[in-house]
Formats: sequence, C-alpha cells, structure tokens
Amino acid sequence: MLLSYYDSMCMDSRPLVPLLSGRYNSAAMPIMDSHALDFISYSYDQTLRYGVKLGQLLIPRDFLCLSGNLGSGKTVLAIGIARGWGSLESATSPSYMLVNEYSRADGAQLHHMDCYRLQNAVDADHIGVDERLQLGATLIVEWPEHIQSWIPIQRLWITMNYITEDKRSVEIRADGDRFAKLLSEFRKNAFQHGST
Ligand SMILES: Nc1ncnc2c1ncn2[C@@H]1O[C@H](COP(=O)(O)OP(=O)(O)O)[C@@H](O)[C@H]1O
Ligand SMILES: [Mg+2]
Repeated sequence: MLLSYYDSMCMDSRPLVPLLSGRYNSAAMPIMDSHALDFISYSYDQTLRYGVKLGQLLIPRDFLCLSGNLGSGKTVLAIGIARGWGSLESATSPSYMLVNEYSRADGAQLHHMDCYRLQNAVDADHIGVDERLQLGATLIVEWPEHIQSWIPIQRLWITMNYITEDKRSVEIRADGDRFAKLLSEFRKNAFQHGST
C-alpha cells in the first residue's frame, strides 16, 4: 500500500477508516474546519457562559451577527458576550431601545443592536453601522438580515435555533482571517481550557 508522508505521520495517532477495497481513506478522518463550529447549549446558563467565553476575546471593530428566530437565545448570548467583554453596566435586551451601548473601564465600547423592528433601508441607514465601527466600537447585531447592506463581508455569523424548551443549537461561521482566528480562540476558550 502506498502511503503519503501525511498518512504515515498520522497513522499512530488517528484511526483510519477501512474502505471496502481494503485500503484506508485518510480523507474520511475528522477534519477541523477553521471557519465553522456547531454545538448545542443545554440551558440558559450555558448559553450565557458561551457568551462570556466569546466576549472575552473581542477587540475593537469586531462584527458579530446573531441570527435566528424569536426566542432562539440571541439576546441571552449577547448578554453573556457583554459580561465577558467587561461591560461596566449589567447587560439587558435592547428590543425597545434598538441599541445598547456598553462601555468598559479602558474606554472601549460594545454596541448591541436589535434590528428586528427595522423596516427598510432608510431605517437601516439611521442605525449608523459605519459610524459606530469608525468610533472603534465592537458590534453585535441581532436580526442582521434587516440591515443586510451594512453587514461587512468579514464577520462572525452565529445562527441559533430552538430545539426544545431548554436546548438550542448554535452554528458559528467565520468569514475572513480575523474571524477565523477569533473562532479558533473561542474553540480553545470554550471547549479546551475549561468546561462551559
Ligand atoms: N439553552 C438556552 N439558551 C438560551 N436561551 C434559552 C435556553 N433555554 C431556554 N432559553 C430561554 O429562551 C429565551 C431566549 O430568549 P432571547 O434570548 O430573548 O431570544 P431572542 O433574542 O433570540 O429572541 C429566554 O426566555 C431563555 O430563558
Ligand atoms: Mg433578542
């Protein structure tokens, strides 16, 4: 059997999958996708903790989209993110305020926007995405689909889904180098350094 250098390096540590032909398919081994991560949150508290782990890693001008139906847990995650980021104020839902602006002792700002009520492109312009980014704020946007034309190509896109009363799925997609790096840091922070 011919083995590539890569296959032979991996043979001792990773299981190879036998094919019907009797050969081994290294492509069937699990592969870490640096741009995607899916997991389940089993409780409100666990979603908060995932948020905290993510919030600890954010830097100015990071752009996070939180997508998913009403009640899927976007605001719970955002509140955890604000806590982990180090907000001086305790975080709440921005539904009636549209935007919650949090600040930190070092002067950094985190803006959490809920775009559910935005109806059209004029509304979307008024929310001032570019101005906020230029100020150096970190942005979290619920209902990003409502401000589609203002969403940067490079962003972290999180989709949450209701599974059962306490259970939510969380899918994270990273676009661009910064967000691939953020996702890999989150993977370590949330799943390797300690339990959530
Ligand atoms: N695993 C979970 N993660 C997040 N929220 C959960 C979870 N299980 C139950 N919940 C409940 O689901 C609701 C989520 O509300 P919210 O975060 O405001 O949703 P959204 O912002 O997506 O509309 C809350 O009432 C929360 O207590
Ligand atoms: Mg919400």
